[in-house]
Amino acid sequence: MAIILGIESSCDDTSAAIIKDGILLSNIIANQSVHEFYGGVIPELASRAHQQNIIPVVSMAIKTAKIKKNEISAIAFTRGPGLMGSLLVGVSFAKGFARALNIPMIEVNHLQGHILAHFLDEKDKKNPHPEFPFLCLLVSGGHTQLVVVKDYMNFEIIGKTIDDAAGEAFDKCAKVMGLSYPGGPVIDKLAKEGNAGAFAFAHPVVGGLDYSFSGLKTSFLYFLRDRIAENPDFIEKNKTDLCASLQNAIIRILLKNLVKASELTKIKEIAISGGVSANSGLRSAVADEGQIRNWNVYLPQLKFTTDNAAMIAITGYFKYLNSKTCGYDTVPVTRM
Ligand code: KG4
Ligand code: ZN
Repeated sequence: MAIILGIESSCDDTSAAIIKDGILLSNIIANQSVHEFYGGVIPELASRAHQQNIIPVVSMAIKTAKIKKNEISAIAFTRGPGLMGSLLVGVSFAKGFARALNIPMIEVNHLQGHILAHFLDEKDKKNPHPEFPFLCLLVSGGHTQLVVVKDYMNFEIIGKTIDDAAGEAFDKCAKVMGLSYPGGPVIDKLAKEGNAGAFAFAHPVVGGLDYSFSGLKTSFLYFLRDRIAENPDFIEKNKTDLCASLQNAIIRILLKNLVKASELTKIKEIAISGGVSANSGLRSAVADEGQIRNWNVYLPQLKFTTDNAAMIAITGYFKYLNSKTCGYDTVPVTRM
């Protein structure tokens, strides 16, 4: 029997989860609303909030899972990438707890966690698992990558953004429109009421399978500046169309290279993951493309798209089965 406690604290969500023999028993997440006021994550405030949240979140995860803390086999924690102050809280907590229980620690790469979230199963819900090798479009607030997943532990990044991540494009453009943070879910909601063909924005020109979103962001900014000069109420009057058109532009950019990558690798097992994989437009666009191209498409459950410790615990579980533990002297890293 293996019981893994997973801890995630890389950005602004404090989360703890328990996995027993590959089955998720609890996944507790404390979001930090303090950042909404500033329109973005303030690292110093994030680490302070993690300090306040970590003990109650872990206690709740253990209680909800109906296990005893001395039954835990190992502690998996996010080592990076992320904000140093935020990571330090989770890593330090994991060290103290692992030492006290005299059990091993398992370091987890946050991005690997997002991808392996596709292997999460619950007591009453078995999710479809992609078959190896599969192609994963990983889209979050900090990263945009195309990854060939050959095995639980074997990943090859074949494309990545050269500037902003897809989530950043959503969040920054939302900020320009005066929408609340994080902007991705707000744009998603408003886009449902709008016309995706109302406005066109610049598409990036980058080689191979790489992405770029900074040109789109600038094009969006200049477009709004010119329209507002003619009509100060432009954003208010066109909010839903702006959101739908912008979302559509981001989805088209993401899909173009996903299709290219599938053609190049001949892989038809296609998964998406990360916070932006919660986007309803992206989910249906990938599903539709899959119908046309005979893909097996894997869309994660919404609760496993944005940051959570369940994905860290499942990754830790696979590493535990492979005896991939780490020393108590492991330190967090902002880039991996
Ligand atoms: O994976 P995640 O929780 O954190 C990182 O690892 O970065 O991703 C957060 C990102 C934010 O940029 C947020 O705006 C975006 O995911 N996001 C969405 C949606 N839900 C979250 N973007 C578009 N549509 C959504 N429904
Ligand atoms: Zn993430």
